[in-house]
Amino acid sequence: MLLKSCCIYGTGAFSILMLILGISLVLSSVFPHLLQSMVEKEVVLKNGTDTFAAWENPPAHIYMQFYFFNLTNPAEVLLGDRPAVVEIGPYTYREYRPMEQVDFQDNGTKVAAVNTKTYIFVRNMSRGPESDLIRTVNIPAVTIMEKFKDSLYLSNIISSLMKYLDENLFTTRTVGELLWGYEDRLLADFKKFQHDLDDVFGLFYKSNASNDGEYVFFTGQQNYKDFARVDTWNGGSSLSWWTSDECNMINGTNGAFFHPVITKSETLYMFSSDLCRSLYALYDKEVTVKGVPGYRFVPPSKVFANVSVNPDNAGFCVPAGNCQGSGVLNVSPCKQGAPIIMSSPHFYEADEKFAQDVFGMKPDKEQHQTTIDIHPLTGIVLQAAKRLQINVYLEQMPRFSQTGNVRTVVLPVVYLNESALIDDASAKKLQMIVMEKDVVENIPFMLIGLGIILGVVFMLLMCRQRVPESTSAERQPLLSS
Ligand SMILES: *[C@@H]1O[C@H](CO)[C@@H](O)[C@H](O)[C@H]1NC(C)=O
Ligand SMILES: *[C@@H]1O[C@H](CO)[C@@H](O)[C@H](O)[C@H]1NC(C)=O
Ligand SMILES: *[C@@H]1O[C@H](CO)[C@@H](O)[C@H](O)[C@H]1NC(C)=O
Ligand SMILES: *[C@@H]1O[C@H](CO)[C@@H](O)[C@H](O)[C@H]1NC(C)=O
Ligand SMILES: *[C@@H]1O[C@H](CO)[C@@H](O)[C@H](O)[C@H]1NC(C)=O
Ligand SMILES: *[C@@H]1O[C@H](CO)[C@@H](O)[C@H](O)[C@H]1NC(C)=O
Ligand SMILES: *[C@@H]1O[C@H](CO)[C@@H](O)[C@H](O)[C@H]1NC(C)=O
Repeated sequence: MLLKSCCIYGTGAFSILMLILGISLVLSSVFPHLLQSMVEKEVVLKNGTDTFAAWENPPAHIYMQFYFFNLTNPAEVLLGDRPAVVEIGPYTYREYRPMEQVDFQDNGTKVAAVNTKTYIFVRNMSRGPESDLIRTVNIPAVTIMEKFKDSLYLSNIISSLMKYLDENLFTTRTVGELLWGYEDRLLADFKKFQHDLDDVFGLFYKSNASNDGEYVFFTGQQNYKDFARVDTWNGGSSLSWWTSDECNMINGTNGAFFHPVITKSETLYMFSSDLCRSLYALYDKEVTVKGVPGYRFVPPSKVFANVSVNPDNAGFCVPAGNCQGSGVLNVSPCKQGAPIIMSSPHFYEADEKFAQDVFGMKPDKEQHQTTIDIHPLTGIVLQAAKRLQINVYLEQMPRFSQTGNVRTVVLPVVYLNESALIDDASAKKLQMIVMEKDVVENIPFMLIGLGIILGVVFMLLMCRQRVPESTSAERQPLLSS
């Protein structure tokens, strides 16, 4: 009898203990903190760790896809008509971007490296071969005309030279030439006077198998929030047409890493040497990529907003005060004076006038927004797509008959989608982490559940112990009578 009630009260005490333990674990969130600090220890760039290996040689497949705009009515455009374009693509390249010349500095708190990018054409993921022809604006010619449009004497000479060389406002070139470079006759003639000039033009000329200078990253050893963040960048050391020392920016991460434990209120800084500055992205929605839950971040429309909305964009008004509307950034100072204007593909989230000025634009959120999907606990990028359009600012220049009666327009040339998707092995690993996290985080609730069950058992036992006493007291007289 004594043993029995001892058992019963033991159950009660144990139940209360479980409840107290469970509730205090929930309130103090010991397990989430424990998990977080485990992850934080994991994410430091240190020779020999998995994290370092993935940083040095990203296992994700990265693709660079180009979609060109073939101009269908050049003669009419010269007479002042609205340009009409047809989107042609994708032309797909597999992108390899290992970190090279890796050098740890400052006692392992920083690491220097160059990020060499190599592009390999993937024919079976492309619409056609690199020899497909595209008719678009003659960018070297427009650049030179813009440069000398105010000089009476030089504009005359250049205009005659262009006539002699049969260089016009528009040109037809292959995909390969437009991207990776071709020798331009006009540039070649200019080179005779200015020897440091390059006579080759290509949107990504010298970008293949080259790097854009040395980056110094934080390893995250001092503060996990700094993990893989760019400390300094000496961009412009490679003499690519696209890079320039005038446009140094030293922010954000380069590659598929953010610091762990990303929250929905976070602002993510991304480095973009195409835009000559850092971009940022804000939480959009929850997504699932290969079975792993993640947060989607997208750049707010403010990134491309006009100066009255976002004063930070004043630097993109070139010449000073000459601002374009919302949704386009004039990056000509970064592109050696070429009248290049960046936007989202199809002028997504730009002033409507840009899309209306060119026949063939169909802006679409899903297709044309830039997105980054991140696993919040580890900060690993599950999927990303950087989408940018390269446009040329076209206007009539009275001293150049080549520009005819062309109307002022921002003419799209090509847009790119640089995308990465987590590899299967890494996704499996993350699925395991997600499962472990769920189990670990549920331990306090299991304790509470157990406490409740034991509490119920305790009460039943108490009742049963009392009931038989009373019934036996009532029954005994019945039985004996
Ligand atoms: C990492 O360690 C390996 C083997 O110990 C060594 O060969 C390599 O040079 C080290 N890398 C760096 C960047 O220190
Ligand atoms: C580097 O780290 C070690 C161990 O933490 C420490 O003893 C040493 O003083 C540090 N050296 C420098 C230059 O900070
Ligand atoms: C880039 O360079 C690699 C190796 O140097 C070469 O195999 C590849 O064909 C090049 N890609 C392009 C688009 O020229
Ligand atoms: C682009 O337009 C030009 C001129 O009409 C044409 O020759 C070329 O085949 C077109 N390109 C593609 C890939 O259709
Ligand atoms: C650079 O990043 C830090 C946070 O990492 C942010 O506070 C700062 O505003 C960023 N600067 C620019 C110019 O984007
Ligand atoms: C800037 O954008 C805002 C909102 O789209 C618009 O109301 C305003 O007129 C624009 N200002 C200029 C100068 O384009
Ligand atoms: C890249 O974006 C384009 C649309 O902008 C889309 O059609 C294409 O499927 C995307 N590529 C990848 C690999 O996600």
